[in-house]
Amino acid sequence: MNKTALLLGASGLTGEQCLLQLLASERYSKVTVAVRRPLSLSHPKLHTVVTDFKNLRAIQPELKADDVFCCMGTTIAKAGSQAAFRVVDFDIPSQLAKLALAEGAQQFILCSSMGAGAASPVFYSRVKGELEEAVSQMGFKAVHIFRPSILLGDRKEQRTGEAIGRFAAEKFSFLFAGPLKKYAGTPVTVLAKKMIEAAAKNASGVQIHENDEILAA
Ligand SMILES: NC(=O)c1ccc[n+]([C@@H]2O[C@H](COP(=O)([O-])OP(=O)(O)OC[C@H]3O[C@@H](n4cnc5c(N)ncnc54)[C@H](OP(=O)(O)O)[C@@H]3O)[C@@H](O)[C@H]2O)c1
Repeated sequence: MNKTALLLGASGLTGEQCLLQLLASERYSKVTVAVRRPLSLSHPKLHTVVTDFKNLRAIQPELKADDVFCCMGTTIAKAGSQAAFRVVDFDIPSQLAKLALAEGAQQFILCSSMGAGAASPVFYSRVKGELEEAVSQMGFKAVHIFRPSILLGDRKEQRTGEAIGRFAAEKFSFLFAGPLKKYAGTPVTVLAKKMIEAAAKNASGVQIHENDEILAA
């Protein structure tokens, strides 16, 4: 179909899955990734932009794509402070979204988080909600917001809190049935697939995909 994609966060757990599935998709003829370090992957469709994300305007022309997939993010612990977390989870992706829109992007597909809300009393969820609102109001033809639960996948890096959550999500998956199903862990393979399928629908407006919808067959 000759569409082009821009992927933010390609080196992460979700981003890597999105990248593999985007490269395998017949819909896309070119997949651009903006990364801090080159990926250990080469593919004829892959176009890599290495950046320190400090001067985003300098890479603007390279952000040209039909569909933008955003899997970028950090944790407050890893970033070191709430302010540093906000730079990665709000400032950089919202600025990149604006620049990609200026370059003609039509759709923005965002990996956000369960519980995201700009009015949330929880800082993490509030920042996630603020990014959701910002990209929703920018003027993309379509915005798809995905709100997964704890992500399930093969993460190399150790994150204690997440490891406990993942253990519980996998070990006690039988508990996440019926009304609790929406809290079940979200396999990143499924999440990436749903994000790419959403883009292929060519819908208009803002659509929010909660975890139970992501997990639905
Ligand atoms: N973890 C969970 O259970 C969970 C649950 C719900 C929602 N989410 C959200 O889902 C999204 C994807 O999560 P994930 O766990 O797949 O992410 P991840 O594995 O932590 O990957 C994050 C991506 O963001 C990039 N990044 C981090 N800090 C950066 C910085 N300072 N400058 C530029 N790029 C930076 C990373 O690049 P480098 O490789 O260069 O660091 C990586 O590509 C995130 O927004 C996350 O908040 C996560």
